[in-house]
Amino acid sequence: MVMRDINKSFPGVKALNHVNFQLDPGEIHAIVGENGAGKSTLVSTIMGLIQPDSGDIYIGDVKAVIDSPSKALSLGIGIVPQELNLVPQFTIAENIFLGSEICKAGVPWIDGKATQREAAKYLDKIGVKLDVNLKVGDLSVAYQQLVQIARALAFGAEILILDEPTACLTYHEAQILFKILDQLKEEGKSIVYISHHMEEIKQISSRVSVMRDGNLIATLKMSDTTIDEIINLMVGRAFTHQKKNRAAGPGGTCVLSVRHLTRQTEFREISFDLHEGQILGIAGLVGAGRTELVRAIFGETKPDGGEIYWYGSKVSVKSPKYAINLGIGYVSEERRKFGIFPISSIRENITMPLLSVLNRWTGIDQASEKSIAAQFIQSLKIKTSSAEKEIRLLSGGNQQKAILGRWLAKNVKVLILDEPTRGIDLNAKAEIHELIVKLADDGLAVIVISSELEEVINLSDQIMVMHQGAAKGFLNAQETTQEEILKVALG
Ligand SMILES: Nc1ncnc2c1ncn2[C@@H]1O[C@H](COP(=O)(O)OP(=O)(O)OP(=O)(O)O)[C@@H](O)[C@H]1O
Ligand SMILES: [Mg+2]
Repeated sequence: MVMRDINKSFPGVKALNHVNFQLDPGEIHAIVGENGAGKSTLVSTIMGLIQPDSGDIYIGDVKAVIDSPSKALSLGIGIVPQELNLVPQFTIAENIFLGSEICKAGVPWIDGKATQREAAKYLDKIGVKLDVNLKVGDLSVAYQQLVQIARALAFGAEILILDEPTACLTYHEAQILFKILDQLKEEGKSIVYISHHMEEIKQISSRVSVMRDGNLIATLKMSDTTIDEIINLMVGRAFTHQKKNRAAGPGGTCVLSVRHLTRQTEFREISFDLHEGQILGIAGLVGAGRTELVRAIFGETKPDGGEIYWYGSKVSVKSPKYAINLGIGYVSEERRKFGIFPISSIRENITMPLLSVLNRWTGIDQASEKSIAAQFIQSLKIKTSSAEKEIRLLSGGNQQKAILGRWLAKNVKVLILDEPTRGIDLNAKAEIHELIVKLADDGLAVIVISSELEEVINLSDQIMVMHQGAAKGFLNAQETTQEEILKVALG
């Protein structure tokens, strides 16, 4: 596939500026770039989700007009979108053949047996052992992605596009995905792979294209380049990666104490103290109970044992509203589901949603709302043409920054961050880390859950490691290593 001189403008942004891109058969081609660089826009034009303003796309020697996702599919372009679009109530088999149902000879009804048989064939092809009669809604994100790949293959896809596929995968699941991608590559299929994780890109891709501000500025052979060179091209200057050392330990007043907190089947007997200025990391494998624990602390679920103390007084956190009133903020890992108000502006997303819940905010005037929003758009470097832009129109990483800004704007005492930098580019990530540390230095108490061990270590003072719902150990972030955390996390 060849893309020639592709241009695409949105109000206030040139998202693609004379982009030329070539995808060869049998290659895994990575696309990298900072948040808002134009990566998703580029692949959306291949997937038929967006029409370029000008430019041509050739598949083989033929000029293609890709005006819808089904057109893309018919041209052999399969997609594993970040927002998976399978039907949760349907089985794996039904999902794989959705839209091209296998019918019994001569009659218009679906041949269930044949569907199952064929579906199993495609799963088998990518080495996945799953019962095709399972409902897709019961599968983990990782397996849903694999079903999506099987579906693309069943439709005869020669080109596969993955936009940040590993954002919600564990290390192990990601390795399984890479093996499958490698195998597809060997079979001559072409794969476009968007990710912010440099190690992954180094590991799996043959070539990498770097985007910056709507321009595709270089396409390099992986074997001829280095991660440092790629990063420098991405950010447009030499990127210095300095690991900060947080000197301050817990010295301030104890804000939040948790004692023997238990919610059967989720987590058991969790106890810790959180002080002003402290950053407590929570590490563990997916399923260890980390998110469940903080949801209970935030009042989203009800624990069935144990206590929570707020500045020494026992409290019963009955609801998120109650938690917010105490001064607890929570950035959930599921941004799309719980985090954003998609058709509201960035300004409103930063300042408004909780205002109506919390009457104490009434009386805030538009002018101060605007200045609060402007302040966070600047300090978090949210890439947008205006604070009034609907948040859903921002790139994924920039949406995440806006959500973070909302809580930072709230003056909370305790901030709970669940996978705060998922989908955020390297540079922005370093800046967000800096900001969190600065807030902690000013007295904010922070709980941060992250599956990235490097992030937990860099950010926290102390790390609680969970395994199957229990706290298996507390480690000093200054002294511990990734290996040690992993060992405890594995039980
Ligand atoms: N539908 C849209 N309407 C208006 N602006 C848009 C729309 N889609 C994308 N943009 C803008 O185009 C630019 C490129 O966005 P894009 O989503 O392609 O970035 P990205 O490289 O995928 O970033 P990320 O790493 O954050 O996902 C951004 O400034 C974004 O706000
Ligand atoms: Mg994107």
